[in-house]
Amino acid sequence: MTAAPAELRPLGQQELRHAFGAFPSGVTALAALADDGTPVGMAASSFTSVSLDPPLVSVCVAHTSTTWPLLRDRARIGVSVLGAHQADACRRLASRDGDRFAGLNWIAAPDGAVLIDGASARFDCGIERLVRAGDHDIVLLRVHELDADHAVAPLVFHASRFHRLATTDTLPETP
Ligand SMILES: Cc1cc2nc3c(=O)[nH]c(=O)nc-3n(C[C@H](O)[C@H](O)[C@H](O)COP(=O)(O)O)c2cc1C
Repeated sequence: MTAAPAELRPLGQQELRHAFGAFPSGVTALAALADDGTPVGMAASSFTSVSLDPPLVSVCVAHTSTTWPLLRDRARIGVSVLGAHQADACRRLASRDGDRFAGLNWIAAPDGAVLIDGASARFDCGIERLVRAGDHDIVLLRVHELDADHAVAPLVFHASRFHRLATTDTLPETP
């Protein structure tokens, strides 16, 4: 029997944010070309792999997002897993003002998905289904094309801060 856990706290917005922030994740850039040929996009850490067959991934997007309505009606959306060297780019991709793509190299795939150069992985996706879930939509995306490079270290988001991975499987066990 281990010691009793610390007392659980009553649920509040701040407590939820704090607890959700304990779960580390990568960060993706969701991006596509607008009709005028300019890229639109946003940072999203809610990316999850969902299914191999069919190939599906998901992201959760807040109903308050002003960028998601611009992405939602695109034929394809690019999902780029940002690299550890792209923390500044990630901040820009989430900022309210300024050019979100400043200093970023990107390519547009034939159907308009915008994919970020130097990312750890890139998926060219179409929307499969949207599920309303509280104040977010769960967006199920079907992957049509992809590339990935495990040699590119991913950006890690934890407790509202950016981190890099550290490999621990070669460390000695603690007694
Ligand atoms: C590290 C990071 C992760 C984020 N993840 C998400 C996410 O998963 N879903 C979401 O809706 N917004 C997420 N955001 C916020 C959006 O990137 C963006 O700031 C927000 O949608 C407001 O901009 P908009 O009105 O142009 O959409 C994240 C921001 C940061 C910095």
